Order: sequence, then C-alpha cells, then structure tokens
Amino acid sequence: MAICCIGAGYVGGPTCAVIAHKCPDIKVTIVDINQQRIDAWNSQNIPIYEPGLEEIVFAQRGKNLFFSTDVDGTILEADLIFVSVNTPTKKGGIGAGFAADLAYVEAATRNIAKIAKSHKIVIEKSTVPCRTAESMRKILDANSRPGVTFDILSNPEFLAEGTAIKDLLHPDRVLIGHLDTESGKRAQEALTSVYAHWVPKERIVTTRLWSSELTKLAANAMLAQRISSINSLSAICEATGADVDEVAYACGLDSRIGPKFLKASVGFGGSCFQKDILNLVYLSQSLHLPEVAEYWNQVVIMNEYQKRRFAEQVVRELFNTITNKKIAIFGFAFKKDTGDTRESAAITLIQYFLKENANIRVYDPKVPESQMRYDLVVDGGVDQAHYNKFVTVHDSAYAAAEGCDAVVVVTEWDEFKTLDYTKIYEKMNKPACVFDGRLILPLNKLKDIGFKTICIGKSL
Ligand code: NAD
Ligand code: UGA
Repeated sequence: MAICCIGAGYVGGPTCAVIAHKCPDIKVTIVDINQQRIDAWNSQNIPIYEPGLEEIVFAQRGKNLFFSTDVDGTILEADLIFVSVNTPTKKGGIGAGFAADLAYVEAATRNIAKIAKSHKIVIEKSTVPCRTAESMRKILDANSRPGVTFDILSNPEFLAEGTAIKDLLHPDRVLIGHLDTESGKRAQEALTSVYAHWVPKERIVTTRLWSSELTKLAANAMLAQRISSINSLSAICEATGADVDEVAYACGLDSRIGPKFLKASVGFGGSCFQKDILNLVYLSQSLHLPEVAEYWNQVVIMNEYQKRRFAEQVVRELFNTITNKKIAIFGFAFKKDTGDTRESAAITLIQYFLKENANIRVYDPKVPESQMRYDLVVDGGVDQAHYNKFVTVHDSAYAAAEGCDAVVVVTEWDEFKTLDYTKIYEKMNKPACVFDGRLILPLNKLKDIGFKTICIGKSL
C-alpha cells in the first residue's frame, strides 16, 4: 500500500510520520507545494518543533517515509490520499471573518482528479465545514478520467501541538466517517487497517461522513468553551476573593465535569480553536440558527475579553502608564512545547503594549525573532520602525527581564517555573512586578523576594 499526504504542515507531518513509524509495510510520502518546507523536512533541522517527532522522522526517512514536492507523481502511485492542507478563516468575500477558506482543499482535490489514473481513497484530514466531502466528491467525479473512481472518507485529526506524538501514538479515538455504501465501507475498512497497526480496534470509531465532519468542529468548540467558561469565572474570582485554581479543582473532581481544560489563562491561542468556532458560527448562521450562532460566538468574545482584561490590568498596576517602561514578555508561542505562534495571546498583548509605547523585551525558547517580526509587523499591523525601536528579542529569560519594570508570563513553558527569581528581581526596576498569565509561578515565594505579584483569577 502507498499513502500520499498532501500538506506537510503541523498535522500532515506528524500524523504521517507516525503512520510510517507504525506501518513499515506502507510507503508514506508527504508532499507540499512549499519547496522550503519540504527541504526542511529533508534536512537535519525539521520545520516543526514537537517533542518526539525528530526521532521518528530521522528513523523512518528514506526507508518508508519520504518528503517531496512531486505532488503529481505521488498522487499517481498512491492508494490512499490524505488531504491535510490549511483551511484558514476567510479574510475577504462572502463569510469573511467566519467561514473557512476552502480554496486549498479544492485545489488539492482538483489536482487529485486531474492526475489519478486508478481508484483512489481520498481522506479529508483538514478540518472543514460539514458536507465539504460532498463538494469534494462532486469535483472528483466531474473532473476525473473515464473509469477512474474515488471514495471519500472523513478522518479528522484531534492531536494537540506540543503533545502531538503522544496523542497520535495513544489516541482517545480515531474517527472515520464514510458513506453508507458498499464502496464507502470498503474504503473505511482500508483506512481502519492502517490505524489498526497500533490503535486498539475499539478506539477506531466509524460514523456517517457528515457526523465525522461536524464532530471535529464540535470537539474543538467544546474544548474552547471550557477555557472560556473558566476564564469568565476567573474575572468573578478576582472581584470576590475566590481562587480560580481552587474552583477549577473542586469543579473538576465531579466526574461529570472532569479536571481537564479548566486551566484559567490569558486566553486560548492556536491556529484552530478560534477558526473552528467561527466556522461553526458561520455554519449556524447559514442554517438560519441565529441563537446557536450567538451561543458559540460568545466563546470567542470571552476569549478576546480575557486578553484585553489582562492587558489592561498590566497597565493599571503599572500606575496607569507604561509609556517608555520596559516589559519582559516570557513566551511567545501559543502554548508550551511548540514553536507555533498562530493566534498566540502574546501577539495581542504585545500589540496592545506597543500602542502604549512600552519597550518590549521578549524571550521564547523556540520562537525565532524572524517569526515574531512576521507576526507583529507583516501580519499584525505594527509599524516596522516602531517594532525596530520598541521590540528586542533575547536569548534567555534573565536577559529579557534585565532593567524591566514588569515580567509578563504569557506561555506556560516549564523553564519559567524554576528560574532564579532573586537574580531576576535584583536586575529589575522597582517596584518590580510579575504578571502571571498562566498561573504557573510560586507567587508567594516571589512576593517574599519583593515582587509585586498579579495573576489571573486570584486576588493575592
Ligand atoms: P499548515 O499550514 O501547517 O500546513 C498546511 C500545508 O499544506 C502547508 O505547508 C501548505 O503549503 C500545504 N498546501 C496547501 N495547499 C496545497 C496543495 N494544493 N498541494 C500541496 N500542498 C498544499 O496547517 P496545519 O496546522 O497542518 O493544519 C492543516 C489542517 O489540519 C487544517 O484544516 C487544520 O484546521 C487541521 N488541524 C490542525 C491541527 C494543528 O494542531 N495544527 C490539529 C488538528 C487539525
Ligand atoms: C487543539 C485541540 O486540543 C486538539 O484536540 C485539536 O486537534 C487542535 O486544537 C486542532 O484542531 O488544531 P491545540 O490548539 O494544538 O489543540 O492545543 P491545546 O492544548 O488545545 O491548547 C489550545 C490553547 O488553549 C492554548 O493556547 C492553551 O494554552 C490554551 N489552554 C488549554 C488553556 O488556556 N487552558 C486549558 O486548560 C487548556
């Protein structure tokens, strides 16, 4: 069997590397139109930081795992084709700001139709609106050579960045949606046989196509909703003297609620939560379900509120002005153990602080300066000259904090928990403030050192 994965990104790369690792009998080729990305996958410096990924790629590469820009040649020889391309929120046109941009999915699908000379099983791996598979099927049927047939499956990915390899090796479930036809079932069995190399059969769940597509959006919406729920409670905690960690812990002990995804924070980031909820909002609006749309939209509104609330608190605690003050930002990635910065809360906070003319000194163990510049200037609308004047990037937390009025913890990197805060305190302006946007620091110890400490969801 040969597998082709179209899209060598955060999902296609790790997912298919794990398939190659677990299925030595299958040839897996991951293709992309981005030459630079493919070159990086073929180098000693792979393009994604993800614990455990490098080891797997280095072990399988050149054996049964290949990275290539030969999209057409790889489609031609594949039996199973994963479509794992990006589906960002549309920036213009109908549904701008909400709907998913399906241009990349459609381009990949048209390419498969044009190239295929034999039966192919096309697997929707990208996160897409409900019934996208139907459009893909129509495109395939209308554009293929006579006699060439296709099956379409939906196989959404549930990995989280930073734990992708663990999630892929031990998934809670693998979901396969298929059409209720003989051929649809055969296709589902073919894909099941791939995952069955390492995933227990009872964890491979099969459903109808549309249920599978909607489940992906629903799962992300529910996870994000829990974070917005606890973040909304964090505002109440600050106003009342309750402690959000205690509330989350005690609520989570109820087995019906459970302890996960109840960590209050400066707001969720990442490429998918916001995008997928907005997608669900758009779907609801399109189906004339305004109350449903409004319900889910509130999850995003609460997340924006949380970021703004935290940024405003920083300014307030620094005597209502941060102009020309130095603020150390600890962490730029949207969560720990990844170099991914998409929709990171750090971007919103820094944009806010720059508008107040603060000096920003950033440290992140995995995000290069070029990426920060891209996110803030190219994508984030910060003036290039303003960035040059007010933003510096440092190679350690100690260097970033030197001479600062405040340290703001934005990403929950483990190393921030064990820094020598006495050393940091000595080199900061006084009063020295620490704002813990992740609730990870031993704030009582920091208080003893002399810091003024502020965090989300607690009045200290
Ligand atoms: P990404 O942007 O990292 O990767 C997508 C890749 O597809 C890019 O490298 C791009 O060059 C390539 N591509 C686009 N069109 C192509 C074409 N026609 N032919 C060949 N290559 C093409 O995106 P990602 O984070 O891997 O996400 C991919 C999909 O998976 C999205 O729909 C996303 O919602 C979903 N998803 C992402 C995650 C995650 O953790 N990032 C988790 C689950 C699901
Ligand atoms: C999320 C989902 O967890 C995955 O199941 C899904 O496959 C993926 O989106 C996707 O579709 O892209 P990811 O965004 O990589 O994964 O990472 P998460 O661990 O979900 O964290 C998302 C954001 O929420 C991060 O900024 C994180 O710091 C924040 N978060 C998470 C909290 O603020 N509190 C929590 O309790 C958990």
